[in-house]
Amino acid sequence: MSSLSNKRILLGVTGGIAAYKSADLVRRLQDAGADVRVVMTPAACEFITPLTMQALSGNPVHTSLLDSEAEAAMGHIELARWGDLLLVAPASADFVARLSNGQGDDLLSTLCLACPAPIAVAPAMNQAMYRSDSTRDNLATLKQRGIHIFGPAEGVQACGDVGPGRVLEPLELVNCAAGLFATGSLAGKKVVITAGPTREPLDPVRYISNYSSGKMGYALAAAAAEAGAETVLISGPVNLPPPERLTTIKVVSAMEMHKAAINAAEGADMFIATAAVADYRPVEMADQKIKKSGDEITLQLTKNPDIVASVAAMEQRPVTIGFAAESENLEQYARGKLERKKLDMVIANDITGDGIGFNSDDNQVALVSPDGIEKLPKLNKQVLARELIARLAQLL
Ligand code: PMT
Repeated sequence: MSSLSNKRILLGVTGGIAAYKSADLVRRLQDAGADVRVVMTPAACEFITPLTMQALSGNPVHTSLLDSEAEAAMGHIELARWGDLLLVAPASADFVARLSNGQGDDLLSTLCLACPAPIAVAPAMNQAMYRSDSTRDNLATLKQRGIHIFGPAEGVQACGDVGPGRVLEPLELVNCAAGLFATGSLAGKKVVITAGPTREPLDPVRYISNYSSGKMGYALAAAAAEAGAETVLISGPVNLPPPERLTTIKVVSAMEMHKAAINAAEGADMFIATAAVADYRPVEMADQKIKKSGDEITLQLTKNPDIVASVAAMEQRPVTIGFAAESENLEQYARGKLERKKLDMVIANDITGDGIGFNSDDNQVALVSPDGIEKLPKLNKQVLARELIARLAQLL
């Protein structure tokens, strides 16, 4: 049996006679270890009821973009981000056409537009419809965009025709889905990741910190866990829920993060420092709230330990990756950090660009190593995290 252990599958069901097979598909996906949430188009609901799919999946079924009750429970963007894979099975000719057009005129097509995870479609239609130039062109467009096409199979169809267009059997679809995750590129490895900002307390109500949201580090941690790694996430204070399937250690200050990182890095294969750690902390934290007095105040700061450099200096060091947040001379400064901190790679991001870097959903990075530099395009942080993990796994 293929493994989808701990994977979250968003199963999209469109209108066609093959929709009845989706009920069995839910069960087969669950047997392989997946958590399944079902999204149905209005046409799919004509062939099989949402109630059936809800009972089988054990989760509410989503059918409408304009359902305020469903949106309150889990909004469509949240739903799009929930899955590790969005699998549309069966995918009708009409849905394939709408997807290739980039339409967002119902819940499922909107999810496809918003979903950062891989998307797969399992076409199911009459053989003549499948053979038509329009459908062929539409499927070619989807393929070009990186959407996976599972099937179709050939054989006798519901209408009596014989030819290609039958949806793959549920177990075949499970195998195809599992194949997408089969890299196992970090299976058996331990990866430690720092994320978010640190807070350096001045007094009981004030601190020094920065704008890091933790999104980049959390996405990397999720991608490392997805690639099979035993993952430890050491997080400064952020407003993100602790990711599932990994261990999260919450810290506040740089000193706390340093201690947790050195402990966790013992025996680790890889350490990735995504956190924006405060370089300095107040020499003393005042016991009482500092009172306003005079026009100026002087804070005395002392240097924090460099966490990633400390890990890189360990006797049994893991492969050690740093980030560099730069506002100018990106490559030069990143290379300086690579050499000074004795790192294996620095992932440099330009933090001056709109919508990238600190506290944004996207990022644009360059991988700086002793061998050279590789620039990646602007990507959603979750998609970028998967790309980075695939590359970093090769360093092991
Ligand atoms: O959290 P987000 O909102 O998603 O934003 C992501 C990010 C912009 C914070 C992230 O992509 C990033 O660039 N993180 C590193 C930010 C940073 O502090 O860079 P730096 O150039 O100051 O530090 C260089 C490296 O040394 C980093 O890996 C940092 O984690 C590490 N460091 C720095 C100081 C210190 N005392 N200890 C460290 O380990």
